[in-house]
Amino acid sequence: MTEQNAIVDYIKSQKPGFIPRVGLVLGSGLGSLGDEIKDSVKIPFSTIPAFPKSSVAGHKGQLILGTLGNMPIACMQGRVHGYEGAESSAFKLFIRTLKLLGCEMVFITNASGSLRQEVGPGQLMMISDHVNFSHRNPLIGMNEDEFGERFHAMDNAYDPQLRKRLHDIAKKINIPLAEGVYMGVTGPSFETPAEIRAYKLLGADCIGMSTVPEVIIARHCGLRVAAIASITNFGVGMQEESLTHEGTLHYGQIAAKNLSKLITETLESLHREPC
Ligand code: HPA
Repeated sequence: MTEQNAIVDYIKSQKPGFIPRVGLVLGSGLGSLGDEIKDSVKIPFSTIPAFPKSSVAGHKGQLILGTLGNMPIACMQGRVHGYEGAESSAFKLFIRTLKLLGCEMVFITNASGSLRQEVGPGQLMMISDHVNFSHRNPLIGMNEDEFGERFHAMDNAYDPQLRKRLHDIAKKINIPLAEGVYMGVTGPSFETPAEIRAYKLLGADCIGMSTVPEVIIARHCGLRVAAIASITNFGVGMQEESLTHEGTLHYGQIAAKNLSKLITETLESLHREPC
């Protein structure tokens, strides 16, 4: 049995018969949404055989199976990051587990810096596209044909219909939702002011150290993707204070309230009326 199959079998055995339709990945400081999941079974990553673990403060490290907005979901409360030394194989196990459990789409959240003056800490920015500035691609190596093609498309990687639905719901419930291009970097150091100026010229609206590998793998195996950045700070050089991980968590919590509402209502709407 492969590691991947062992992981999926173990998870399935924890909530027999349950099939999630949506995978939800919660970023730094956004874990509280996990507490709103109903009929939940919580499975610590540490108990899942061969499952990748996160060492970052603010990440709980558990998988939650249950319903949110009546939608059956599998929620990753915590994720792995490239800057922790995670290998491509860890990212693949993480995302493909959601696919093999039955998910059709993933909602990915993260903490990001804003490169746009009018979108500040505590606000939400939906990701419309990304620039992979990590210069790494998690699919380098032999292609695993059972998951997807050798060369897969990355246009419309962030599903246009899901984006429209999220905008419609945000408008309806009065939550400001910006939209922009995500610059994916490796970290772990924050950027220099010169880098931030350069990334702005390259077309980025927000920046962070996650999401890109997950989206590449999700699209490879045919999962639809929606991603929302919770803005925790302005890019370096755009604000007076220096960046800290604590600041990221603080503003993440402020954005988390709106993010929780937006995601819950959107799942509810998708459950009623799929798109
Ligand atoms: N840069 C990179 N990653 C981040 C930032 C940032 O400004 N804020 C939150 N994650």
